[in-house]
This record gives sequence, structure tokens and C-alpha cells, in this order.
Amino acid sequence: MVHPTNPLAKGSAPNAIFDLMKKPCVVVTGGAGYIGSHTVVELSLAGFHPVILDNFSNSNRSALDGIERIIGSRPESMQVDCRSHQELSAAFDSIAEQHTISGVIHFAAFKAVGESTKLPLKYYDNNVGSTSTLLQTMAEFDVENLVFSSSCTVYGQPEVIPVDEGAPILEAESPYGYTKQACERIIRDVHASDQPLNAALLRYFNPIGAHPSSHIGELPLGHPNNLIPFLTQATAGLRDPLTVFGDDYPTDDGTCVRDYIHVVDLAKAHVAALQWLDARSLACESFNLGTGHGNSVLEVIHSFQRVNGVDVPHVMGPRREGDITAIYADPAKARSAFGWSCEHSLDDALRDAWNWQLALGT
Ligand code: NAD
Ligand code: WQD
Repeated sequence: MVHPTNPLAKGSAPNAIFDLMKKPCVVVTGGAGYIGSHTVVELSLAGFHPVILDNFSNSNRSALDGIERIIGSRPESMQVDCRSHQELSAAFDSIAEQHTISGVIHFAAFKAVGESTKLPLKYYDNNVGSTSTLLQTMAEFDVENLVFSSSCTVYGQPEVIPVDEGAPILEAESPYGYTKQACERIIRDVHASDQPLNAALLRYFNPIGAHPSSHIGELPLGHPNNLIPFLTQATAGLRDPLTVFGDDYPTDDGTCVRDYIHVVDLAKAHVAALQWLDARSLACESFNLGTGHGNSVLEVIHSFQRVNGVDVPHVMGPRREGDITAIYADPAKARSAFGWSCEHSLDDALRDAWNWQLALGT
């Protein structure tokens, strides 16, 4: 069932309608989620008309309120399960009545690594199923441009860091990781087929932080597994102290090293990727999106304390199964192709993450 909220249906002034129809329309699956909502903001600011398709399985309509507060208008959205060909094609049909769809950004997926080891079929069904259905629907509506949310997880434990896009795709650490490898493979196979497809596979490193306005941010449902949401909730007194998963790794301080990228920088990279696709025909390329710098868990904790003037309650604990020692990106390819690079520091991201937690209420 498709539930549209279409600003054009609300009796907008003719000039407003004309202006809207001139903007390139981008379908954003999973656009109510963490990275999607920030990307919808950046697309709007860059002059695109994003349309969110989301089944709200891991998000909340309050994200639409937050986007509206930032951009000054309600984003167009439809409740759609991207696994359903019927729902997806009905949504494309309804959008195509008023816009030419210039591209799709496909965020919709489940992302909890631990859960994927317990419920692998839930992950294959949703992540692979929605990607396959989306590609089929894009073909039916002659939409060629696709930006896909991939992950540094496709590299597994890399042999060389920083990791560039030429690094081998190794054994993934989880069924979730395999769904990202499988989706990349499906997209490459379709690109090599007769279906015209112009695709950018964006491999995110560790997105953190929130919009500086504190109107949107990460809304983890239940027990957070990722470092920053757990850290902010523990600091707010909502959780037990943070457990640092292992301090005996072969790194400078013994804790794991990751490439933490501000979610607004990540969102801007999607706009740049769409513009890159628009200037191409039938490309299919992968890009690393990270800062190019690694920080350890203890460095993150100490920076958070310094920037925000709060204590982070934490204890040392054993290693978490499946964690890799260190990974960070070589983002040179995205920089030279898109003219994109990160503008925000780790401190910015940690400040915005804490302000978002405070805005949510402690
Ligand atoms: P999120 O869970 O906040 O957002 C995903 C959105 O997709 C949610 O709004 C959810 O309701 C929606 N969704 C899920 N399945 C759907 C379906 N079948 N149909 C329609 N909507 C559906 O996650 P996020 O952190 O914003 O991640 C976005 C994408 O980026 C995902 O593909 C994820 O795998 C990928 N990614 C995330 C990270 C990260 O650390 N957050 C890192 C690398 C890659
Ligand atoms: C970061 C660091 C933990 C929680 C995951 C996915 C990856 C990608 C990004 C989607 C690690 C440590 C964490 C805690 C801790 N997602 N940590 N205590 O594991 O690098 O990557 O998100 O594609 O695929 O695997 O992110 O935030 O879970 O952990 O010490 O309570 O923080 O050991 O070193 P990770 P994370």
C-alpha cells in the first residue's frame, strides 16, 4: 500500500508547482533513516527534489518533521516497502506523473551486524530483495542513475590500510557484510547486461554525528550496537557504562581504529555522486567515503570528553567477536572524481552527536 504525502496535491501556487517540476527529482529509498534524512536535507539545499520511499521499519516520521524544520518545507514521502514490486512500481508511477525521475539513492536496508548473524534470512530478504526489486523497477521506468549505500565491510579485514577501491573483496565478517557484497555484485551484473545502468557504489566507513541544528540524527531503536549511540546514551545515564571492546589489539593504545566520518559530509558526497553520474553514461564505479584518518576507541572517548566537557563512563572489556583491528579509507578517488572531501572534524561530529542526544532528552 502506497501512502503519498505530495505537496503538489495540497493546492500549491502555480509558480511553486512550476519551480518544483524544474528541479531534478531523486527517489531516496530509506530516506527517513539516519543517513537518508541528512542526504534529503543536502539534496534539497542543492536544488534537487527528493522523494522519500520508506517503510519506517527502522525509522520514525519525526525525521520528516526534523527535515522540515531545517529546509522549511515538508519533504515528499511515501510509505513503501522496497521489497514489494507492486508498491515500488505504484510509487514510481505516482512520482512519474509529476516529475522526471533523474536518479535513485538506495539506502533502504537493515544494518545491524550482530542481528544479521542470528537472522541471516531477514537480511538477505530485505537487503538483497529490495535491491533486486528496485533495479527491476528502475528498468521499467527508464531510470538509469543509481547511488547505492555500500560499506567498508565489503573489504573484511584488509591487508593494507588505508584501503583503496582496488583492495580485494575478502570474506565478509557477517551476513550483513555479505548482503552488501551481493548487492554490489547484482548491480555490476545488471550494469554489464542490456539494462542501461549508471551506478556509483559508495562504501561508507563509520558515519557518526548529527545535523548541527540537532533537528535530525541517529535514532537507534532498542539497544545500540554502534560506538557513538551507545557512548552518548551511556554518558546521558540511559545505559550502563560503555564497554571498550578490547585493549590488547596491535594499535598504539591497544584499542581498535576506525575512520569516523561526519554524517553531513557523507550526505554531501551523495549529492556530488549524483552530479558525477549525471555527467556520465553507463558507468559503474565504487568509491570509498571516509576521512582518510583512523582514530582509536580511546581517542574517540577522550575527544568526546574534551569537546563536550562531560565524563564518559567506560570500562575495559574483552574483544567483540568479528571486530577487525584497524581500517581507514583512502578517499582519493571520490575526491578527484566528485571534487568532494570532508569538511567536518572528529570534534565537530562528537559535539553534534552529544547535542543531538541532549535534544532527544536525557
Ligand atoms: P537506517 O536504518 O537509519 O536507515 C535505513 C532506512 O531504510 C530506515 O528508514 C528504514 O525504515 C528503511 N528501510 C529498511 N528496509 C526497507 C524496505 N524494505 N523498504 C523501505 N524502507 C526500508 O540506516 P542508515 O544508518 O541510515 O543506513 C543507510 C544505508 O547505509 C543502509 O543501506 C546501510 O546498510 C548503509 N550503511 C550504513 C552504515 C552505518 O554505520 N550507519 C555504514 C555503512 C553502510
Ligand atoms: C566501532 C568501534 C568497536 C561499541 C560497523 C559495521 C560496518 C559499518 C559501520 C555498516 C569498534 C568499538 C563499539 C561498544 C566499543 N556499518 N566499540 N564498544 O564495527 O567499526 O562497523 O558500522 O555497514 O559494517 O560493522 O562500528 O560503531 O560498532 O564500532 O568498544 O559498545 O567501537 O569494537 O572498534 P564497526 P561500531
